[in-house]
Amino acid sequence: MTKIPEETIEEIRSKTDIVDLVGEYVQLTKRGRNWFGLCPFHGENTPSFSVSEEKQIFHCFGCGAGGNAITFIMDIENSPFTEAISKLAGRVGIELEVSFSEASRSGRSNEHQQMIEAHTLAANFYSHLLLNTVEGEKALQYLEQRGFSREHIEKYGIGWSLDDREVLTQLLERKKFAMKEMELAGLCIMKNDGTGYFDRFRGRIMFPLHDDNGNVVAFSGRTLSDSKEEAKYLNSPETPIFEKSRLLYNFHNARLNVRKTGKVILFEGFMDTIAAERAGIMNSVAVMGTSLSDTHLTKMKRIASQLVICCDGDNAGWDAAKRFAVLSNQKGLDAKIALLPGKMDPDEYISTFGGESFAEKVIGNPHSYMSFIMAYYKRSKNLSHENDVLQYIHEVMEELAQKISPVERDLMIRQLTAETGVSPSALNEQLMKKVGKQAKQQKAMQPEGQAIPMAVSNRKMSSIERAERLLLCHLLNDGNLFDRIRDDHQELFFREEYAAIFIRLAGFYEKHGMPDFHRFAESLEDRELRKVVMDAAMLERDPDFAEQEIEDCIHHLKRQRINRRIEEMMHESKEAEKMNDYTRALELAREIIQLRKSLSAM
Ligand code: GTP
Ligand code: MN
Repeated sequence: MTKIPEETIEEIRSKTDIVDLVGEYVQLTKRGRNWFGLCPFHGENTPSFSVSEEKQIFHCFGCGAGGNAITFIMDIENSPFTEAISKLAGRVGIELEVSFSEASRSGRSNEHQQMIEAHTLAANFYSHLLLNTVEGEKALQYLEQRGFSREHIEKYGIGWSLDDREVLTQLLERKKFAMKEMELAGLCIMKNDGTGYFDRFRGRIMFPLHDDNGNVVAFSGRTLSDSKEEAKYLNSPETPIFEKSRLLYNFHNARLNVRKTGKVILFEGFMDTIAAERAGIMNSVAVMGTSLSDTHLTKMKRIASQLVICCDGDNAGWDAAKRFAVLSNQKGLDAKIALLPGKMDPDEYISTFGGESFAEKVIGNPHSYMSFIMAYYKRSKNLSHENDVLQYIHEVMEELAQKISPVERDLMIRQLTAETGVSPSALNEQLMKKVGKQAKQQKAMQPEGQAIPMAVSNRKMSSIERAERLLLCHLLNDGNLFDRIRDDHQELFFREEYAAIFIRLAGFYEKHGMPDFHRFAESLEDRELRKVVMDAAMLERDPDFAEQEIEDCIHHLKRQRINRRIEEMMHESKEAEKMNDYTRALELAREIIQLRKSLSAM
């Protein structure tokens, strides 16, 4: 592994703003001097995660996670130091001598890396075929006629796969990729007779699918012909690097804009996401297929507080929108639903009425959940028929009964009255009946007296823990202190992590000579150890009383150690008595007295 110079590390750290960086993953709001959000390292609903602009560190009061920009990337991407550094270097425009792939190879599984490299190569190849070759002309024309600009084609890496059985396969073979792996990655398929491989994608417009870091991990290929015989879209299969239920199209591009606006737009088709850029909408993502997973929702919830769902105007689209809205609600994401006239999809709407109209009238004017639900149930009914009216009221009431906001209830009741002519009092009465019924059902389902899990942060720290933390804080900031303590107190720390850190810190001071808790934390591969170090580093020390604080901690820890020893000996002595070994018991009793004396002399 190539060594990255210390100055470069320092430069990368100083050029990276942690608020910006964390903001790409977590929605942050400023309160006082710090920024707050939901911790990305543990599930929570109250923001206990904070980022300090001034100190350039993050900290979670809930789970104790903490660190700087570099360790944040190490933690959240689960990547080793070199990979985190490469990533940040790229972000702030610093060239590293180790290439990104080289750096990540050292950490990530080689197989994954190879698959990503092959996808990157394939994407470049497809893009070249589309933009620069005669074979790609028809596809390019098609895209242009659909309103794709050259800029967007390049930004989204769109390409064309030749209608030839093995061009990509041959290219991958020439580049010495392991073909078994390429099959597993979904790029190639083994021939029936087992004599070799051929390309999965042939004669299709190729849309690369990126993971959250912007790596190409899969493709979706669209046919040029609109014949019903073959599938319109062909997607890569699930592979070690591509999980449909995790990937959101365009997430890596949209992340920053989503965070800035606090809002994410969700489409059913990735074509719509690309089209939405024409309407100036830069914070949209799309699911691959029609199911919205919990992982998708978690991802969006981490960086957005509002979701606007925009599905096609056909029946399937309305059903998808309802499903998405229900799931988002359950997840606690405030979801609104943007509706399209007729059976249009977003892409068609933009081509017909223009981007401005789409941004203002459709996305800018979404329905609340209840208002959408009413429109949803009304769609299939004719309200001049009594049966339809009754059914409609029943369906809306079922939904309303689950909603608790009295304002919303009132609004909906008024709207129902206007639509159906049924009096508000009659509607209210029916609603109350439903509410009562649902409450009963819920009670029957819930076991009584369920305990509410206590937050980790409420756990009381023992005095030993506090002393260890504060002492470590001083040791991290003062190399001389470390030297002084090191020889006198081999066994100062009780807990295993602290003892391990103490040893590592000795190595660090030997090598660096100077205190630097950032560098030290970055040098630890174990996330738990990093957590302990950063947690301690963030304590407030009082420089004027440093000596006193250190004395107190050492004193306390020493006393505690003696106390423990006494406890052990008492136990031992009882055992000895049981065995009728009175000599040993007496010996122990004397030692205990000695220890007690030393305690009171301290
Ligand atoms: P265009 O017809 O090119 O405008 O695409 P669209 O975005 O309007 O596609 P559509 O609304 O038909 O489908 C929405 C999404 O469903 C697509 O983005 C695909 O992810 C998925 N999908 C549609 N058709 C197919 C198919 O034939 N196979 C697969 N695997 N997925 C499909
Ligand atoms: Mn479409």
